[in-house]
Amino acid sequence: MLRKLLWRRLFSCPTKYFLMILVFSLVTFSVLRIHQKLEFISIRHLELVEENPSSNINCTKVLQGDADELQKVKLETITVKFRKRPRWTTYDYINMTSDCPSFIKRRKYIVEPLSEEEAEFPIAYSIVVHHKIEMLDRLLRAIYMPQNFYCIHVDRKSEESFLAAVTSIASCFHNVFVASQLESVVYASWSRVQADLNCMKDLYRMSTHWKYLINLCGQDFPIKTNLEIVRKLKSLMGENNLETERMPSNKEERWKKHYAVVNGKLTNTGTVKMRPPLETPIFSGSAYFVVSRGYVGYVLENEKIQKFMAWAQDTYSPDEYVWATIQRIPEVPGSVSVSHKYDLSDMHAVARLVKWQYFEGDVSKGAPYPPCSGVHVRSVCIFGAGDLSWMLRRHHLFANKFDVDIDHFAIQCLDEHLRHKALETLRH
Ligand SMILES: *[C@@H]1O[C@H](CO)[C@@H](O)[C@H](O)[C@H]1NC(C)=O
Ligand SMILES: *[C@@H]1O[C@H](CO)[C@@H](O)[C@H](O)[C@H]1NC(C)=O
Repeated sequence: MLRKLLWRRLFSCPTKYFLMILVFSLVTFSVLRIHQKLEFISIRHLELVEENPSSNINCTKVLQGDADELQKVKLETITVKFRKRPRWTTYDYINMTSDCPSFIKRRKYIVEPLSEEEAEFPIAYSIVVHHKIEMLDRLLRAIYMPQNFYCIHVDRKSEESFLAAVTSIASCFHNVFVASQLESVVYASWSRVQADLNCMKDLYRMSTHWKYLINLCGQDFPIKTNLEIVRKLKSLMGENNLETERMPSNKEERWKKHYAVVNGKLTNTGTVKMRPPLETPIFSGSAYFVVSRGYVGYVLENEKIQKFMAWAQDTYSPDEYVWATIQRIPEVPGSVSVSHKYDLSDMHAVARLVKWQYFEGDVSKGAPYPPCSGVHVRSVCIFGAGDLSWMLRRHHLFANKFDVDIDHFAIQCLDEHLRHKALETLRH
């Protein structure tokens, strides 16, 4: 009965309805076409090219490790013209971010997830900085995705205009914010750990969606795209990934004695400390981690961990053993056994690629990495353009350290390469 009525209705439908339907489908079709076209144009627009190219360095050649091109980079970097190139100050950033849509467009931030897979796997970042606003902008742009979360901890000792510029950049994004509590960070002291903890708390409260937390500093840069990071994190299957090895005995002084900040410097008072309140040993690692949401929740809420962290507050460089030690406590989500078979060196962990001066050498003779092509600061390599081709063949997610004042092209070429790679997947 109903079907009969429907059929009659349809066949009696006057031509004007047919016309309306026809026009409607045509409009829908062309809107979809335009949308596709727009998407294509915006992909091209998102490729990174320098606003005011100060040189004609070919990044393709740099990434291939082309000796002539690397020589060209070295010569270019020392020219007066290059060194005196105009640079953006904190005031420029405050100015630019007063119009957020124009800032986002000009600086080519990506504002749509690039894939369903990435949209479904948000990542949280804790970024600890104290100066060099342009580096922060470049780092943030390189890792920014609308589905992720970014907490930026600004050192309380930073210049006022730096904090203002960071706050201003953060205000342009719904998922970027300055930590609710800021520490004055003293080298090698507990304050470095506290800065990350403050961000951990904020991020944990802000969203239950993110799956992993990665901590960064202002001199880090990614060597993988967001999609590659997502896939690597998924492959961890809930386990945390960070350097955690047996503590060398020459570093035990660091937590067997009581340290205090004297005149802004962390100093050994010589007073013997109590043993750590743990059944498991202290492990050695680094300040950098890749940890699951479960790990973060446990660290923030578990009483035993709170006691351990309270005990660690007057020691030297707790950042270099606290995370590594927690990673070996059996009840901690995503942790691994205390057995030495589970030790993970910095080269095996994915958290951070660092070149230590005293390990550099001839790889064919057993050195873990070739010599630094940039310069050393406190025995750590500040990467040069010549480090890129080797670096991009490593499994790490991030590398440390970079500095635009030392090698602008190392960052420039890495940045362009990663952006191109990220957009490449959209074209297919
Ligand atoms: C850069 O070098 C690559 C590889 O040698 C070459 O294919 C490309 O055309 C060069 N690009 C420019 C702009 O010169
Ligand atoms: C930003 O700088 C430009 C160029 O110097 C200037 O014209 C503009 O008025 C500034 N905008 C703000 C909001 O200060």
